[in-house]
Amino acid sequence: MADYVAAIDQGTTSTRFMLFDHSGSEVARHQLEHEQILPQAGWVEHDPVEIWERTSSVIQSGMNKANVSADDIAALGITNQRETTVVWDKNTGKPVYNAIVWQDTRTDKIASKLERDGHGDTIRTKAGLPPATYFSGGKIQWILENVDGVRERAEAGDVVFGNTDSWLIWNLTGGTDGGVHVTDVTNASRTMLMDLETLEWDDELLALFDIPRAMLPEIRSSSDPEGYGTTLRNGPAKGEIPLTGILGDQQAATVGQVCFDVGEAKNTYGTGNFMLLNTGTELVRSEAGLLSTVCYKFGDEDVVYALEGSIAVTGSAVQWLRDQLGIISGAAQSESLAKQVDDNGGVYFVPAFSGLFAPYWRSDARGAIVGLSRYNTNAHLARATLESICYQSRDVAEAMEKDSGVKLEVLKVDGGVTANELCMQIQADVLGVEVSRPVVAETTALGAAYAAGLAVGFWNNTDELRENWNEAKRWSPQWDDEQRDEGYAQWKKAVERTLDWVD
Ligand code: G3P
Repeated sequence: MADYVAAIDQGTTSTRFMLFDHSGSEVARHQLEHEQILPQAGWVEHDPVEIWERTSSVIQSGMNKANVSADDIAALGITNQRETTVVWDKNTGKPVYNAIVWQDTRTDKIASKLERDGHGDTIRTKAGLPPATYFSGGKIQWILENVDGVRERAEAGDVVFGNTDSWLIWNLTGGTDGGVHVTDVTNASRTMLMDLETLEWDDELLALFDIPRAMLPEIRSSSDPEGYGTTLRNGPAKGEIPLTGILGDQQAATVGQVCFDVGEAKNTYGTGNFMLLNTGTELVRSEAGLLSTVCYKFGDEDVVYALEGSIAVTGSAVQWLRDQLGIISGAAQSESLAKQVDDNGGVYFVPAFSGLFAPYWRSDARGAIVGLSRYNTNAHLARATLESICYQSRDVAEAMEKDSGVKLEVLKVDGGVTANELCMQIQADVLGVEVSRPVVAETTALGAAYAAGLAVGFWNNTDELRENWNEAKRWSPQWDDEQRDEGYAQWKKAVERTLDWVD
């Protein structure tokens, strides 16, 4: 058996290739960023061709760095930014439009019309999601309605849809020379088009968005012993590696954090934050503003569901301090700047740049910085930004507790922002629970590798994966209850100020 399993993590800002050994330790990685295309306020696009080129490069460089060939790799797993919508012509391999990214809010009228016309409950019941700009359905509809000739080509079966998992697998397995058109249950559960119980595309939902079924990929398990195909001899891996795992990135992090039991949860700190709670084979419907979603499905085993609290803007608020305000030169400096003060000096920052996602789902919200006085400095704003990451996580943790009755005792965390020690301390303070970070912080790529490796017997079962998980660091709450309650009450007041901002 080959010594390694590989993963491609196609994220919102970059694409990374990673290799893992049997102990789940990282052997090599290579990562490249791609352009964020912002044509107008609220619009966010990526160039799918650039993403495919970056993917090819990171595979080649990652394999070269580790000096491995395709024969050394037992399987390849794909994980991806979810919801981001690519529509391409399968005869030419050319995208008909840029990818419309999950953060893009151009479909707000499509979403609000669905609610106004009384279809909101159908979507909530069948897909587990509220009608919102976040998900793929409205983005596909927008492309069909706004790009010349695409609807006819889609109806004829020439133009197809995929999230970036499908786009990459189609290219990796042959593209116009016979690429496969597949996705997995976790990605499909983010489109508003799949019935969460049957795990199939649903005609009633497709009709609401007027999307031809012929456009959609085949929905498969997240870990599939039959495989979805293999990489090509003349492709970037220069050999045939079985493609046997696909997971949306937040579900992949849940698997990488080995949250295999009901009641186990993780919180990933990336561009946004995403807290997922494993609810087992039972589909729990949220009453508190969370999403019901597929957590994973391994082979023929029963599907496992999750409740998810999605937060649109967390790490990207730190980037905003760097890129738009220029008050820090890099993410790490947000920590040193915030450390210059002992508290937020009364300042609260609600970064509702894409409206507010869970648990509010208010596309009419816009960001606000409140509580300012002449005394405040950049340091208070940096501190308020880190606090906003943690308070938004508390909002979804509270909703999770209401929906599931499960009280968090320890929060498993991962993602780039967890390198910010001050932010993790604030998270423990704001939640009043312990916060725990694993040794392998790249849990998203690891989860995709686990899905792929389980399918080919590189790992035998989830117990084996559990043994690979080790804690690197733990933070304990230092605030007393009074401080915690006062801070949270102020945060809620600040959130109120952001609502009803846009008509
Ligand atoms: O739902 C969006 C999420 O999948 C994006 O994750 O890590 O690319 O920001 P990330």
